[in-house]
Amino acid sequence: MIPLHLKEVGLNGEHTRIIVEKPFGTDLESARRLNEIYASVFGENQIYRIDHFLGKETAQNILALRFANEIFEPVWNRNYIDYVEITAVENLGIENRGGYYETSGALRDMVQNHLIQLAALIAMEPPTRFDADHFRNEVVKVYEALTPLTEKEMEKDVIRGQYTAGADTVAYRAEKNVDPQSKTETFVAMRVGFDNWRWSGVPFYIRTGKQMPTKVTEVVIHFKKIPHRMFRYTRGSHPVHNILILRIQPNEGIVLRFGMKAPGPGFDIKQVSMDFTYQSLGQQAVGDAYARLIEDCIQGDPTLFTRSDAVEASWKFFTPLLHYWEKNTNVPLYGYPAGTWGPPASEGIMHEHGAKWTNPCKNLTNTDQYCEL
Ligand code: BG6
Repeated sequence: MIPLHLKEVGLNGEHTRIIVEKPFGTDLESARRLNEIYASVFGENQIYRIDHFLGKETAQNILALRFANEIFEPVWNRNYIDYVEITAVENLGIENRGGYYETSGALRDMVQNHLIQLAALIAMEPPTRFDADHFRNEVVKVYEALTPLTEKEMEKDVIRGQYTAGADTVAYRAEKNVDPQSKTETFVAMRVGFDNWRWSGVPFYIRTGKQMPTKVTEVVIHFKKIPHRMFRYTRGSHPVHNILILRIQPNEGIVLRFGMKAPGPGFDIKQVSMDFTYQSLGQQAVGDAYARLIEDCIQGDPTLFTRSDAVEASWKFFTPLLHYWEKNTNVPLYGYPAGTWGPPASEGIMHEHGAKWTNPCKNLTNTDQYCEL
């Protein structure tokens, strides 16, 4: 009710701007109600719904990579891309935020906003111009293209988990302000798709979790396999598809993996990396996401803030899943020991596609430490 009180004391003049942190509603209905309340006090151009992932340099750089280069966009579609992985995991628990987290869970805390926002940057059409209206129109369009999940898909393509005790950490249920019988998920892995010409049939696998082996946020684009494996009868290994890794954090950068002939007899094709790191751009450190966004708000630039229709479009996609979980209390909630990569069932959602998660190694210092590629 804060906006109504602000109105009462006259703090809603035309020059006022208000930054609203998540959670923006807990489902579609509550988000709509909140939007109405805000709209009764402020104009949409005064409301800055903040999602700090959009303030990250590396998230914005997805737009530069796609739309400031000629070579990526022609292959950025279902003809060349096999599947996309988006991972945002942390090696921390809920850090004294039990009260909040119990009402949220990983789906509301990370997926409905941050991760779907990253997916939008990967999946959106190029805006005609980079300004608030054009950019946010495209975000809404791509959210609206999210293929609604059927109940069968909610069962099969969405895995939720909750961390149990690790070597030196307590279980989620033993955290402060957490119900000892809590069914709140601290891990979600799911498959989503976009119902449009560009992405039809391309799965986007999204995953987030607390108490994982490391903290990393990255997007991995898997290109289709080569059509003909000419070298398969020769000695050595034969990687068959290209991978583009967009490392949002840490060790911010971009890695392209491709096959090259190792020196020597025969044709031993090795997967090698072409690597760009932000550090190589020079002295400028990667800035703080919140600082960037607050500055944008002060400047009156809402481009990187979420518009009311986008919030609703995202909730429209996720609310049926939340309702499904509420209604069906027997939907599995898998335990996973803190410090592991989450429930093995999360691998299952990729099997149908013949894929598996890319688990970055614990110490992300250079590209060679990526395992399981
Ligand atoms: C916040 C979530 O929005 O994002 C936290 O509420 C999460 O649970 C955090 O830890 C992750 O942000 P970052 O920038 O540290 O990856």
